[in-house]
Amino acid sequence: MPVVSGSSGRAIAEALAPLLDMEHVELISRRFPDGEGYVRVPSKSIDSVRSEPVVLVSNTYPDSGVLETILLLEAIASVRAGDLSNYKNEEPQSLPDVGPGVFLAIPYFGYSRQDKRFSPGEPVSARVIGEMLARCCDGIAILDLHAPAILEDLSVPVEFVSAMPEIAARLSNEVNPDFILSPDKGAIDRANEVATIGGWDFSYLEKTRIDAHTIEHTPKDLDVQGKIVAIVDDMISTGGTICRASDALHRQGATEVHAACTHGLFTAGAISRLSNHVDGVHSTDSLPNPRAVVSSAPALARGLKNLMG
Ligand code: R5P
Repeated sequence: MPVVSGSSGRAIAEALAPLLDMEHVELISRRFPDGEGYVRVPSKSIDSVRSEPVVLVSNTYPDSGVLETILLLEAIASVRAGDLSNYKNEEPQSLPDVGPGVFLAIPYFGYSRQDKRFSPGEPVSARVIGEMLARCCDGIAILDLHAPAILEDLSVPVEFVSAMPEIAARLSNEVNPDFILSPDKGAIDRANEVATIGGWDFSYLEKTRIDAHTIEHTPKDLDVQGKIVAIVDDMISTGGTICRASDALHRQGATEVHAACTHGLFTAGAISRLSNHVDGVHSTDSLPNPRAVVSSAPALARGLKNLMG
């Protein structure tokens, strides 16, 4: 059985394949000079892609990742349907349809934060992308989706998986925290899972986002005097949420503050901004980033095993 990847999922697909007792097959993915994408199932991999169920690992981020994921799914679908007709007249032109069995593993689901119509006239972007993907595959595993409710009733089964067990293991081995903090209400479940696994104290902050770069936390007394604290969130983008939470922790006597997240977006300047506020940053490799120290493959493997039975 193959775990296939285009340009965004290669390293994770390589790590995932042995966990599923599958082989990694790299698909062709490149850019035309004008920036448009090109993908293809190479001739040597057609038998493999048709042989058994296939897992595609691909991110819907950045925007080019959304398109590449859809094009890869379409390429896989045409190969599995046996539609190989082509203008170069390469044989065979057609083969029997091998039926369903295409599963998509998404380490980072881009657009996950536009999961509501916050103002009139907006699309619910996460839903739009989810529906497009569901039309092209038989099941989806998504790692730490910001708010799973938006994709709960897609036309194909969706497994929402979490890297929190692996993040807890990393913190236990490298940080040995006393206290886990969720920087907002949205991350409570995830951060609490980490705290429960490690047997660490837990609390959360209430956050108000003023704009993309400005957030405010409601002051709260935290029992962190002399303690090592890890702030756990699903993603870090500008780093503003973590920096403000860390400031609050330091003001209340925390001796060391670490940040851990699944998705390290680290938009411009975030890494250096964070280095002025926290003692360490621990991210998974769902997106390539300089703080990717936790593998996202085990969590995706758990979801794919459930999907594939
Ligand atoms: C939002 O609710 C998310 O869980 C993160 O807290 C947020 O996206 C982090 O963004 P930033 O790093 O820009 O503060």
